[in-house]
Amino acid sequence: MKSNLLTLASLAGLTNAALRFGCSSLVIQRLDPVVQPGSIPSAHIHQIVGGNAFNATMEGDVGSRATCTTCSFSEDFSNYWTAVLYFRARNGSYHRVPQYPNAVAHDGQIGGMTIYYTQESFTSNGNQKITAFKPGFRMLVGNAANDKKDGTTVGLRYTCLQTILTRGFETAEFPKEPCPAGIMAIQHFPACWDGKNLDSPDHMSHMYNTGKGGFRVADPCPASHPVRMPQVAYETMWNTTMFNDKSLWPEDGSQPFVWSTGDGTGYSAHGDYLFGWKDDSLQRAMDSDCFFRDCGANRGGPLLVQSPEEQNACLVQQTVVDQIEGWIDELPGWSEKRR
Ligand SMILES: *[C@@H]1O[C@H](CO)[C@@H](O)[C@H](O)[C@H]1NC(C)=O
Ligand SMILES: *[C@@H]1O[C@H](CO)[C@@H](O)[C@H](O)[C@H]1NC(C)=O
Ligand SMILES: *[C@@H]1O[C@H](CO)[C@@H](O)[C@H](O)[C@H]1NC(C)=O
Repeated sequence: MKSNLLTLASLAGLTNAALRFGCSSLVIQRLDPVVQPGSIPSAHIHQIVGGNAFNATMEGDVGSRATCTTCSFSEDFSNYWTAVLYFRARNGSYHRVPQYPNAVAHDGQIGGMTIYYTQESFTSNGNQKITAFKPGFRMLVGNAANDKKDGTTVGLRYTCLQTILTRGFETAEFPKEPCPAGIMAIQHFPACWDGKNLDSPDHMSHMYNTGKGGFRVADPCPASHPVRMPQVAYETMWNTTMFNDKSLWPEDGSQPFVWSTGDGTGYSAHGDYLFGWKDDSLQRAMDSDCFFRDCGANRGGPLLVQSPEEQNACLVQQTVVDQIEGWIDELPGWSEKRR
């Protein structure tokens, strides 16, 4: 069976690449070049990883402009970002929840996220060519204004980590009880493209989601969005440990974590993606048979790699200066929003 599949794949010139890699933190700040380009500040604060061309406005070929990246594949100058998780104390003060790198893709990165580019599944492309994104491409998944279960996207979930290796047991809302090793936030993007637009007014309708959540096999792309692109997913490990004492939680027993949008349900989860792989590096990887770490040139794969020290050394200064460490009286941008 396996050899039949391999023969079929090689006949069609198709391959089964899957990328999974860690990116350390680039900057935490109130900018959003996808949803609010040019807005300084944006409505809420984000945690951002990837290339150092990150800015309030990002047009054109980012991969040719950036000079360093926090991702382990050093040709990946894309930017990846999500909202920031906060703990809300009984006295109403907020504290940012620290991030830690994914235990299974971790070499010493600081904070950040784990990024996936898969095909139909980890082991198959579903017999379809996977077309890499193009310079200027961007997309959004999720809705920062959503606070109701109804509109929840299937690929946006949380895992209450019993240990740093817990996987599965996904919920659409924030876990209701303290999670011993923190909360993993998971965002799966759509992977079907209309073949024409690098962006769309809502940053979503040029893409179509046939995914079923998790890393389950997606349905075929529809005629309106026929081009199968890499299935991008983010995992962020939020270390809630220092806030897990229930005597710190609200008296009514509700859970105390909020996104930087102000949402305490978890339904406002969203992720932003701005493509920035250098030249044809992503297509090269997607056209290979490489799997996870073996995609690195140090293991015979098609992609250049850098050390965790080099990843951690790539940083961007805050354009919008907000207090990141310690207790704050309100979420960044909150008073401006209410005004
Ligand atoms: C962001 O854009 C501003 C204004 O164009 C520029 O001064 C700044 O150097 C840019 N920052 C980065 C990190 O490219
Ligand atoms: C609010 O509560 C937190 C946690 O108990 C505490 O560390 C912080 O100092 C308090 N802030 C104020 C302004 O009282
Ligand atoms: C989470 O934070 C605690 C301290 O608050 C620390 O002891 C622990 O090592 C952190 N966990 C990870 C996986 O970094």
